[in-house]
Amino acid sequence: MTGAAQKAAKGLRRDFGEVEQLQVSHKGPSDFVSAADIKAEKVLRAELAKARPRFGFLMEEGGEVKGEDGHHRWIIDPIDGTTNFLHGIPHFAISIGLEMDGDIIAGLIFNPITDEMFYAEKGKGAFLNDKRLRVSSRNNLLDSVIATGIPFHGRPGHKPFLKQLERVMGGVAGIRRMGAASLDLAYVAAGRCDGFWEIGLQPWDIAAGIILVREAGGYITEIDGGKNALYTGNVLAANPKLHKQLSDILTAA
Ligand code: IPD
Ligand code: CA
Ligand code: CA
Repeated sequence: MTGAAQKAAKGLRRDFGEVEQLQVSHKGPSDFVSAADIKAEKVLRAELAKARPRFGFLMEEGGEVKGEDGHHRWIIDPIDGTTNFLHGIPHFAISIGLEMDGDIIAGLIFNPITDEMFYAEKGKGAFLNDKRLRVSSRNNLLDSVIATGIPFHGRPGHKPFLKQLERVMGGVAGIRRMGAASLDLAYVAAGRCDGFWEIGLQPWDIAAGIILVREAGGYITEIDGGKNALYTGNVLAANPKLHKQLSDILTAA
């Protein structure tokens, strides 16, 4: 996984450099960015298939590819944080999760610009480069920084989001909308953010982050505590002290 991510990252770094040049052109960089996206996904798929030829795939661009193995599949987002990438904001990541019979057993989230590689394996802990990660120990929401994702043009859920925001914002030290759900989850695992919620996500936004948060000692569920966050795309992650408090606030009538 690390080898595949490093290889795809080389292309992304080059392409991210180009984006700045393209910003000023009339057409804008969006076609270029979708080409970069597809290219990165191809590299990831080829490298992972080389290492584990029988595993399947679920990819943002390429969809589902069944594997002979029938138990394992890679869940991939080649660029999470496309809007940032497109605008020359260096906050995006390659995200790779490994699912075994419905359970995420390994994950990697790599920001190629800051060179921060977050990874975790079931039962073996979560790491940032070679440093062990632990969620924050804050137990007072008033001191906490909570990340979220705001729905945008073409996405449903604007009104429900505003309700949730209204309930949370008055009771915390700060809310952040950084623009890459995978990195939001990695930041919860690293204790940089104390919690994160978003609705309407896809499995490739979340898969790797699920194992990172769990292995760092955090909780990740649906907002009401439900267990199918990976496939409903309704996600609440936090340290164990704040998870229930946030769930109660977000779901209050
Ligand atoms: C998006 C990012 C963003 C989140 C959106 C996702 P993309 O993924 O993770 O933070 O708010 O819901 O779709 O499109 O950049 O891969
Ligand atoms: Ca994404
Ligand atoms: Ca993406």
